[in-house]
Amino acid sequence: MKRIVFGNIKGGVGKTTMATAFVERWYPYRKVAGRDDDSQGSFGEALDLIREVRGVSFPEQPDILIIDTRGELGSIQADSADLIICPTGLSQVDINALAKFIGKCDESQRARMAILPNKSKITPSKMLINQHQEAMDILRAFVEEEGVLHILPPVSQRELLQEFLQIFDENPFQTVPEKYLKRDQSFHNMIAELTAVIDEVEEMLELPKIAVEAA
Ligand SMILES: Nc1ncnc2c1ncn2[C@@H]1O[C@H](COP(=O)(O)OP(=O)(O)OP(=O)(O)O)[C@@H](O)[C@H]1O
Ligand SMILES: [Mg+2]
Repeated sequence: MKRIVFGNIKGGVGKTTMATAFVERWYPYRKVAGRDDDSQGSFGEALDLIREVRGVSFPEQPDILIIDTRGELGSIQADSADLIICPTGLSQVDINALAKFIGKCDESQRARMAILPNKSKITPSKMLINQHQEAMDILRAFVEEEGVLHILPPVSQRELLQEFLQIFDENPFQTVPEKYLKRDQSFHNMIAELTAVIDEVEEMLELPKIAVEAA
């Protein structure tokens, strides 16, 4: 079984959101299950919703276990993880918190760690694109220095994300509900971003390929 743990000291960076997105993506194709190690219980609620609305029963012996945490990793979580994914923002405050988090991990844990820049501000405004690139460069240099394995493709700030994760009536990765298609390209772009992240994780973990029809 492969274990993927989501962690970062900083709150609100998207640990639970991304953990949920991975379960949403994989449950039709893979033996995936989730475990909520955060006493707030949001990931547990999301799993319940998927179970109820999708009619899924998660396997007791999954091939992949997705673990959401309350921030700091317990040593058991960190040691048994095949991959530790750290969603982070790109502000200085976010990067400082990420540095603290990475500082608490040892070398072997860093070698299994992937940073996921989330809620990043990629906008058509040139100024913000420049700021974004600058922040990504800082993050890359930092990750290289710390000996962290990998940076995943960034996911931008999308107002639709929250709604998207609550649409549990269709598999959003396959079928985009009509009302979202009408709104703008934003929904499509968001799915492409999330799919790019998940595809990279599949490669990192050397999971067998799945055939998914394009949305
Ligand atoms: N890329 C994004 N674009 C827009 N909103 C996002 C994005 N990623 C996450 N969010 C929103 O940010 C909020 C915080 O996300 P989430 O609860 O997943 O963070 P967390 O790291 O699990 O927080 P906590 O430390 O409280 O557990 C949620 O409302 C979520 O919908
Ligand atoms: Mg959370």
